Amino acid sequence: MPEDARPDLQYLNLDPALYVREDIWQQERSRIFARTWQVMGSAASVASPGDYLAMDIAGTPVFAIRGRDGALRGFRNVCRHRGARLLADGSGQCGLIICPYHKWSYADTGRLVQAPWFGRDPAIIPEDWPLEPIHLAQWRGLLFAALDPETSLEEQLGALPDELADEPLESYHATDSATVSFDANWKVYTDNFVEGYHIPGTHPSFFAAIDFEAFETTAHRGYVRMTAPPKDGLFYRGKWLWMWPNWTLSLFDGGMNVSRINPAGVHRTDQHYHFLFADTSDAAAPARAASVQGTLGVVREDTQVCAETHRNYAAGAYSSGPLSGRHEKGVLYFQNRVRRALGV
Ligand code: FES
Ligand SMILES: [Fe+2]
Repeated sequence: MPEDARPDLQYLNLDPALYVREDIWQQERSRIFARTWQVMGSAASVASPGDYLAMDIAGTPVFAIRGRDGALRGFRNVCRHRGARLLADGSGQCGLIICPYHKWSYADTGRLVQAPWFGRDPAIIPEDWPLEPIHLAQWRGLLFAALDPETSLEEQLGALPDELADEPLESYHATDSATVSFDANWKVYTDNFVEGYHIPGTHPSFFAAIDFEAFETTAHRGYVRMTAPPKDGLFYRGKWLWMWPNWTLSLFDGGMNVSRINPAGVHRTDQHYHFLFADTSDAAAPARAASVQGTLGVVREDTQVCAETHRNYAAGAYSSGPLSGRHEKGVLYFQNRVRRALGV
């Protein structure tokens, strides 16, 4: 084809510098992670008074706690005295929330209860120093937190509720969780998650267990859907979803996993997985374990290739290449939303 008859490239990968620049990471923290709803896990884990769920949103620690009055509240997991972390990440139960640093204590309403040994100071009144609230919302049994949301959760979810209208999500109970940490920017991993193009090269066993020729990726309002007919014996049911900006939902027979791709820094990512199943009986334990271990096995293959890719971006060894219109529409959707959020 003569040069002048060649059509313009439609899909070009995001500039690799955007994956490794400290200033971009700080912009992502304020423009994406502080402004969006972040999945925390199963709302059932904060059903009883004193139950809490604590996590980190791109460096900002937060928690949700069920109060003695029955209300669910969310706070920054940061002491008002000198900024120590209050509760350890994960789920648990507490009465008063006691800071491990100097033992200030807070009620489950966020009110400062006591500042022991502080000394008398008429300028200090406890009402001035409550925990700082954050926003919480629920959807289909999942709990979400947001620092300063720019939209409602419903608006962020886009067309996802229709996609999953027939799935009995509420009948699935959280049984397992896992965190996979790796040395790559969160966008390198997200690019990987939203395409199936890498399955033949990166996941040979997974490739053998699906009809890859029928793999389909489509971008929708708020999410990317990937489907492929599974062959017998695959733990996945053949539908994988990724939602803006950083969570995923993959279906099993009688269950699902939900994950949050959380940046720990520009070069480091923690992916937090929750596994939920309808059948929580002992008899079904081997089937659940196969789904959990199967998922984590696939993820480890991904994180290895992502870490190697990230190193090439960080070294300046790569300049943007073309994306497949057939297989990488999800990558383009994600990257365009990043471009829009950052104004690049
Ligand atoms: S930082 Fe929490 S009591 Fe001092
Ligand atoms: Fe993968």
